[in-house]
Amino acid sequence: MLTSMAAPQARGKKAGDAIFGANRAAVEAAARVGKEFVTNATIGAILDESEKLVCLPTVKKVYQSLPMEEIISYAPIAGLPDFLRDVQDCCFGDCRPEGYTAAVSTSGGTGVIHHVIQNYTCPGDDVLTSDWYWGAYSALCDDNGRHLRTYKLFDDALKFNHKDFQEQVNRMAARQENLVVIINSPAHNPTGYSLTGDDWDQVLDFFRYLAGKGKHVILLADVAYIDYAGDQGRQFFKKFSGLPEEILVIVGYSMSKSFTMYGQRLGAMIGVSSSQSVIQEFSDINSYTSRATWSNNSRGAMACLIRIFEDPMLRSSWKAEQQEYYRLTKERADIFTSEAKQEGLPILPYQAGFFISVPSSDSAAACSELHKENIFLVPLKAGIRIAACAVPCSKMHGMAGKLKKAMENIGQI
Ligand SMILES: Cc1ncc(COP(=O)(O)O)c(C=O)c1O
Repeated sequence: MLTSMAAPQARGKKAGDAIFGANRAAVEAAARVGKEFVTNATIGAILDESEKLVCLPTVKKVYQSLPMEEIISYAPIAGLPDFLRDVQDCCFGDCRPEGYTAAVSTSGGTGVIHHVIQNYTCPGDDVLTSDWYWGAYSALCDDNGRHLRTYKLFDDALKFNHKDFQEQVNRMAARQENLVVIINSPAHNPTGYSLTGDDWDQVLDFFRYLAGKGKHVILLADVAYIDYAGDQGRQFFKKFSGLPEEILVIVGYSMSKSFTMYGQRLGAMIGVSSSQSVIQEFSDINSYTSRATWSNNSRGAMACLIRIFEDPMLRSSWKAEQQEYYRLTKERADIFTSEAKQEGLPILPYQAGFFISVPSSDSAAACSELHKENIFLVPLKAGIRIAACAVPCSKMHGMAGKLKKAMENIGQI
């Protein structure tokens, strides 16, 4: 019997992932025992204290006031010119790096990663990120015939592991010309970790050294959670000023979290370089790839960003609303981290952001054991992810103790 019509490279691919699987289990449990008795810490979106999906009120007001033609019309392939200007200011705030910059609109932050992989590596090349990473990175590499490799994010003291980082970059440098490195900071998914200023200095010094040896370094700074990282979250952008021409920084900005417009699928890739021609090429090749993948992006979402950003009143209410949810997420995370400390449950260093991670040798077993308590977390390769963005404070209390107990029950601690 014929079992596949797919071309060889497409056979066996399936989009289902651990996050959606864990969410499904939580939804089923809620239908069985009642929502109030279930903790669903699998969702990567902000829910309020009554577990309703949050839309920032300013975004709701502005989006709903857009003329229908603005929502339904095509946008230029690269994006509306005003969007391409304003999105850079939204992203950098008052920490804009010096150098040539350009933006190209993308289908969310995911689109940025897709284009970087496709246009800055060759088929068969490696792409490097940390061992704790957002699962979509590996699908994006795999689907494009690239390999995702990892360095250890933390050393024994739970600091950024520069030694392993440099070793893994060097390994990649021994076999390929273009080195694409993805760093998701601040407020990393899944750990909530942010590189310190000193970490960034060391990373960039190492890139300067590689550039001096003629290597081309493409740093993808994935800043999907930038607006939930606190006051100091943007300082590192300034360090991208005046880098050698062999280093291209591509910042991946997403409206999914910053505007709570997850399903509107809009983001931007922002190139930063000291070479004007590298930036011209950046605009040209990435717009071309947009034409060849999704064509153009949501004009309504672009118009929404422009209107909010260019009106000082709207801009400040939007910023205040982000702050409110940054504080709420932090408060929830603080409940978990302080209880984890009291209970003696080892967790990874959390600074800010949507998620907290707990290392585990068999995360699936620990998560299933916790299902007995009607608590649903996401099992990852090296541990367990807890979505502080989605769990009300009342349900955050006691979770660390129950997780520790579950891990003890199955002999993990
Ligand atoms: C680390 C990271 N990068 C990028 C994104 C981009 O998401 P989107 O494509 O919805 O903008 C996400 C979303 O979950 C993420 O967690």
